[in-house]
Amino acid sequence: MFQETVLAANHYTENLFSFEITRPDSFRFRSGEFTMLGLEQDGGKPLLRAYSIASPSWDEKLEFFSIKVPDGPLTSKLQAIQPGDRIVLGRKSTGTLVLDALTPAKNLYLLSTGTGLAPFASIIRDPETFERYDNVVLTHTCRTVKELNYGKDLMQATMSDEVLKEIIGDKLKHFTSVTREDYPYQGRITDLIADGTLADAVGLPDLNPETDRVMVCGSMGMINDIKGLCLSKNFEEGSISRPGQFVYEKAFVE
Ligand code: A2P
Repeated sequence: MFQETVLAANHYTENLFSFEITRPDSFRFRSGEFTMLGLEQDGGKPLLRAYSIASPSWDEKLEFFSIKVPDGPLTSKLQAIQPGDRIVLGRKSTGTLVLDALTPAKNLYLLSTGTGLAPFASIIRDPETFERYDNVVLTHTCRTVKELNYGKDLMQATMSDEVLKEIIGDKLKHFTSVTREDYPYQGRITDLIADGTLADAVGLPDLNPETDRVMVCGSMGMINDIKGLCLSKNFEEGSISRPGQFVYEKAFVE
């Protein structure tokens, strides 16, 4: 394992935080992949969990977006990390939420709930995404308005970066919805796709395997429902060995 150093931690709600750590020169990954990460334990094996890498593959730091599980063995400790603390990082990364798992098309949909946004935070900062697609639609649905803030800050930082702004142009659309508070778009993403709200909001036609590719990351229930929706529209599931029209991965849950 690599032994890395915490550079920053940012708390968004009582349940959500992000953090940055140093990146070893030899740690390579594809945007959208996950790795193992955690903390040393006294006299035992390190306590590790799978974490999507939220930073893009060109970045010299590594960034992660995490929930805080009150009695979770790892996150109850991890949420207290401070700059200078040590983090254990796996040597390898893997995952299906990568551009190479999808066949070429016009539009890319990145559908997320909660911390399922993390792999897409990486993908929307990768210039290759915008070489491959004319439109990239990033959706993020949370229970509360505050839980959207990591994604809102991410969009603002991305679109104020001189280099990324030039590469992305008007190709990236950010759609947010909330399920348990008042908000301009209220409801689960599955319902907002089904009733045409998402299509209207981003100005694109309904999901179609001819033109669209879909990546999904969130809770198991959300993934299953989107998977059902994709299959009902004749989308074919993809993988790196056999690229297809949609891919999914469960967000990290302790
Ligand atoms: P809801 O509030 O209606 O359950 P969680 O915090 O439980 O992971 O949920 C994150 C977001 O995902 C919430 O807005 C939640 O909506 C939504 N969600 C939960 N299950 C599904 C599902 N099966 N399909 C679509 N969205 C879902």
